[in-house]
Amino acid sequence: MERESFDLPEGFWLGTSLSAHQAEGGNFNTWTRWEELPGKIKNRDQSGDACRHWELFEDDFELLRWIGANTHRLSLEWSRLEPQPGQWSNEAIHRYRQMFESLRAKGIRPIACLFHFTLPIWFEDAGGFENEKGIEEFLKFVSRCQKEFGDLVSIWLTMNEPVVYALAAFGAGLTPPGKKDISLALQVVSNLFEAHGRAFAILKNANPSYQISLAHHMRILSPERRFWPLDFLFVKKADAIFNWSLLHFLNTGEVHFQVPGICDLKRRVPEAVGALDFLGINYYGRDYLSFTPLSEEKIKLNQTPNHLDVKTDMGWEIHPQGVDKILHGIKRYGFEKIPLVMTENGIADHDDDLRSQFIYEHFSNFLIGCKKYGLNAKGYLHWSLLDNFEWIDGFYPRFGLFEVDYKTQKRLPRKSAHYFRGIAEKKCVFKPIPG
Ligand code: GCO
Repeated sequence: MERESFDLPEGFWLGTSLSAHQAEGGNFNTWTRWEELPGKIKNRDQSGDACRHWELFEDDFELLRWIGANTHRLSLEWSRLEPQPGQWSNEAIHRYRQMFESLRAKGIRPIACLFHFTLPIWFEDAGGFENEKGIEEFLKFVSRCQKEFGDLVSIWLTMNEPVVYALAAFGAGLTPPGKKDISLALQVVSNLFEAHGRAFAILKNANPSYQISLAHHMRILSPERRFWPLDFLFVKKADAIFNWSLLHFLNTGEVHFQVPGICDLKRRVPEAVGALDFLGINYYGRDYLSFTPLSEEKIKLNQTPNHLDVKTDMGWEIHPQGVDKILHGIKRYGFEKIPLVMTENGIADHDDDLRSQFIYEHFSNFLIGCKKYGLNAKGYLHWSLLDNFEWIDGFYPRFGLFEVDYKTQKRLPRKSAHYFRGIAEKKCVFKPIPG
């Protein structure tokens, strides 16, 4: 009979992930401005109060304790901390310190992410990560955060999903600042890679015992039309850029984006070689890509294929086999010695019919795959603790182990919260009982 339960390694980081803008409420940043524009967000939702996590964090961290988490990832909202260039908010500093203290008092190690999609408006309007000046400004922010929080935080993510951020914001134009220029998007990717390498050095110099990484989104990409060579070739290129350019960069300090007719971009950042103490991977599933050069919309990304019986509430495919493929690739890049942390993995599932099984399949594949390829499984952080504001999709996708009633701000544990608690209690991932 197939094995159905898998022990967590000694010292494993088990917990959840959340980001500032998606949960805190009351933010004023590049996204707040974007949300006001018609047609940008599903159902015209605006993040508004979100989960009022800014006020309710203490209760929310009690929930973490209840599910038995020993680690929690959150992000620091730059626009709160430095609402005007050079003017820092003592109140915001104080509140984030309270959050970190509260986590630590509960025996939960905090992971602080320094950039999760939202930016101060003043920063974006001055060009943001489009230019070198933006990198310098970000590094000042990093350094100040280290000074303010570095006694309470010892695990850092310099940023979340640099490639996703740049492609959505500067390539597809779906997120702020909404530009549509692939060459610029790749320029921003390389600026962010550089910013990561240099932020890593700043944090490491400040305290060599810090554990530092970034959260990298990895997806399985497949051709939409399996026997259409252009789709196939396009997928190869997209996969190299989307999934693997960051690993290549961390190995060599080099970026090289070469897209015929679009750009040929090279960058060397010596301090980026080996700039990670662990690798953070966000994994959700699979996309289908097509490339039709003579049509108006040359590139199509399909996240909601028709041929599936079971889908998430957002129509995404559930593809736990992808975890193995990704781990295989990571091994090929020679990352055997780098601890791996799933910094995000989750599902939009309002009725919670699929979430426990989703966790079981992805989490166990992560543990099995790491064993198989000689990799070091260090952590699993579920996205997310709470339902929250899902960017351009607004509030309808429900990613929480806890349901949030946005009218009353009440939190209710879903069945999957009990399941997660069981994993923490038993220190092993086991097959959930259906129903
Ligand atoms: C991302 C972000 C999260 C999302 C989550 C669900 O991966 O886009 O890190 O902020 O909410 O991934 O889509």
